[in-house]
Amino acid sequence: MIIVTGESKNYCLLKNSSLSCLLRINNDQPELLHFGRPVSETDASALTYPPAVGWGESTLYNAEDASSCLDVAPLAWSALGAGDYREGAIELSIDGRQISPDFKFTRFEIMDGVQKMNSTLPQAKGSCETLAVHMTRSLPETEGELELVLYFSLFETALTRRCELRNNSKRTVCVNKIMSSMLDLKGSFIMATFNGGWIAEAHREDIPVGMTAVVNTSTTGFSSNRHNPGYMLYRPGTCESSGEVYGFNLIYSGNHYASSQKSLQGLTRTMQGISPAGFAMPVASGECFETPEAVMTWSEKGFNGMSRMMHRFVNEHIIPRHWQNKKRPVVYNDWEGCMFSFDERKLLSLASKAKKLGCELFVLDDGWFGARNSERAGLGDYTVNRKKLPGGLEGLSAKIKAMDMQFGLWFEPECVNPDSDLYRAHPDWAIHGDSGTDYLGRNQLMLDLRKSEVRDYITENVSRIADSAKLDYIKWDMNRHSTLSGTEAHRYILGLYEVLQSIFGTRPGILLESCSSGGNRFDLGMLCFGAQAWASDNTDPVERLDIQQGLSYLYPQSAMGAHVSESPHSQTLRQPPLTTRENVSFFGDFGLELDLDHLVSVEEKEIKEAIKFYKKHRMTLQFGAFSRLEAYDGSIRWQVKNEKEAIIGLFHKLINAAPGYEWLRTEGFESETQYTVSSRPQGLRVKSFGGLVKHVAPVNINPNGLLIRRADMIYSMPDAQQSFECSGAALNAGIPLHQLYAGTGTGESIRTQGDFGSNIYVITKKEPASGANDN
Ligand code: DGJ
Repeated sequence: MIIVTGESKNYCLLKNSSLSCLLRINNDQPELLHFGRPVSETDASALTYPPAVGWGESTLYNAEDASSCLDVAPLAWSALGAGDYREGAIELSIDGRQISPDFKFTRFEIMDGVQKMNSTLPQAKGSCETLAVHMTRSLPETEGELELVLYFSLFETALTRRCELRNNSKRTVCVNKIMSSMLDLKGSFIMATFNGGWIAEAHREDIPVGMTAVVNTSTTGFSSNRHNPGYMLYRPGTCESSGEVYGFNLIYSGNHYASSQKSLQGLTRTMQGISPAGFAMPVASGECFETPEAVMTWSEKGFNGMSRMMHRFVNEHIIPRHWQNKKRPVVYNDWEGCMFSFDERKLLSLASKAKKLGCELFVLDDGWFGARNSERAGLGDYTVNRKKLPGGLEGLSAKIKAMDMQFGLWFEPECVNPDSDLYRAHPDWAIHGDSGTDYLGRNQLMLDLRKSEVRDYITENVSRIADSAKLDYIKWDMNRHSTLSGTEAHRYILGLYEVLQSIFGTRPGILLESCSSGGNRFDLGMLCFGAQAWASDNTDPVERLDIQQGLSYLYPQSAMGAHVSESPHSQTLRQPPLTTRENVSFFGDFGLELDLDHLVSVEEKEIKEAIKFYKKHRMTLQFGAFSRLEAYDGSIRWQVKNEKEAIIGLFHKLINAAPGYEWLRTEGFESETQYTVSSRPQGLRVKSFGGLVKHVAPVNINPNGLLIRRADMIYSMPDAQQSFECSGAALNAGIPLHQLYAGTGTGESIRTQGDFGSNIYVITKKEPASGANDN
């Protein structure tokens, strides 16, 4: 509901059952009196800041009114040049001279649903109400005026904001900075951001926000693996299950910027939008500039409460409609197993094994076209390599589909190797350095998606192959940072969105997974086109614990590709057990990415069981309400839960000798209800005991001998399994788990795991009886 209230109709309240936002127009400026818990319109005057007198050396917005000092007001929008000396949200110039962007309120406009954008920028969809706050700034009389429209859309789970600059003047105006959103929140916060780099994405970093600004920005041309656009502001003392948290994100894949800074008066200003670095966008007379849409939500139920709001928002308003709440297939991807070296025989052998293990979608990754036998050549070409695939993609696709599997394909459409037919024919389609130097990344240049002929080339080729090879899935990769910056980087992103819309807008059934050297473009912009994104090229599950946990703050499990790969892992040489590789991948879009021809039979059996388990609980794992449980013992614990059941993953990193008790402590179970709890049966590889086997075997056995090696291939020892029944109250209080192995023997009630061990617990509501909820 949106209510305009107050004697002078200068208040506006946006409100639903979980959130509200209260604005007041004062001194012709929009003040943000409140954002967060739902308040009512009768609270409007109580939430209004009492008029203050002038503050020392500050300037007044209205000379007649001593309390019109913008510098101390809680504002929803502001700019330098009119008395607010905090960071401003907009900077404009005309003919190279800055103009003061002092816009004044003119009117409120209320609409049902979203106001559709005119540019190619993606935006949130679905049920909401929108408030448009119109403001103008007149230019010297004959030159007309500029209009700024601030849009506030209230969805059940989040508030989105964006703005539009309409040039109703006769002059061209240059936008040097324009944020999507700005707000002043009450009091002190800590800002948490998600940072890293290639194979080290989304590591959480927390910085208290003081009077020095904390900035989260990307300059790589994309949303980047260095600084994800999403961030949180939370009150000191907040934990996973309690405390006040604001979550922020941006529906944009280019250079982003967010800052938070506290004023002397105790207001924390936070803003987010396109990075202003190098930005100078001319907006001609009669034209309009639209910012990307910013997303913000709030919860007082800690980080978990905020995450659940964001997850619902992403699942219901960002993901393409066709894929909303739709189960994602179990993938087999050939990349880590084969890289560039495969032929049709190898692929069909992998596909038939993948099918037997339970995979539903076979994905052929890089290396299927042109001279693409290494990273050095062929990128940009779309001719199928007939040496590898004599029957072409159509032939391979038909054979895979005949096995009753779906077929998917990798593309990297935005780049070109100089050693490619495309580059030889159209060197001008690549982006060259202005200075005459070409900056190569992974031996490739970027194609210039600002050019319509390049966009057409990509759209035609990808669409043609998608149709002829009857693709069910596309992995859209992009393996380098950009050399474009500022306005040009933004134009590139607009071009990219146009291409994605042309290809996938008319093919909603194709599951698009975006990827960029792993998680280099894991953002809400890409998720508007593709229902999932590859989280990281790092498939070591121990590393994935941090990466997937970092992403989990702002993105749902259903958005994260998570595959079981070979151990030792190519990124770390670490050797975690297969069980842990499976258990971590369960909390995302599960897949396999290893050479199945090298699996031994005990591994095949285990993977088959794992996929069966995943399919049985898939809707809970992909779409259940997610919580990071606090463990107090160094383990990482994830819980997913729906009405009928919950799954908990308990993951260890390094194990200590003489380990203490561990408890299974859940979040959010109904106290009075009875539940059954059961750990997923797991096996222990014989070889993981090394020389210790000789102490339990009746004969003296060589741990490196043939017997042990044979036994290890076909047999695994069952690890302790635990099952019990109890009330939700007991679960929330904490149930003691079977003891961890402490060097004094194994047994039915000893969890024998070692470093990087893990367990999965399935909790099922007893009444009414329930079983599998999906296959
Ligand atoms: C980088 C991706 O992240 C990998 O999964 C794989 O697709 C390679 N590119 C292929 O070149």
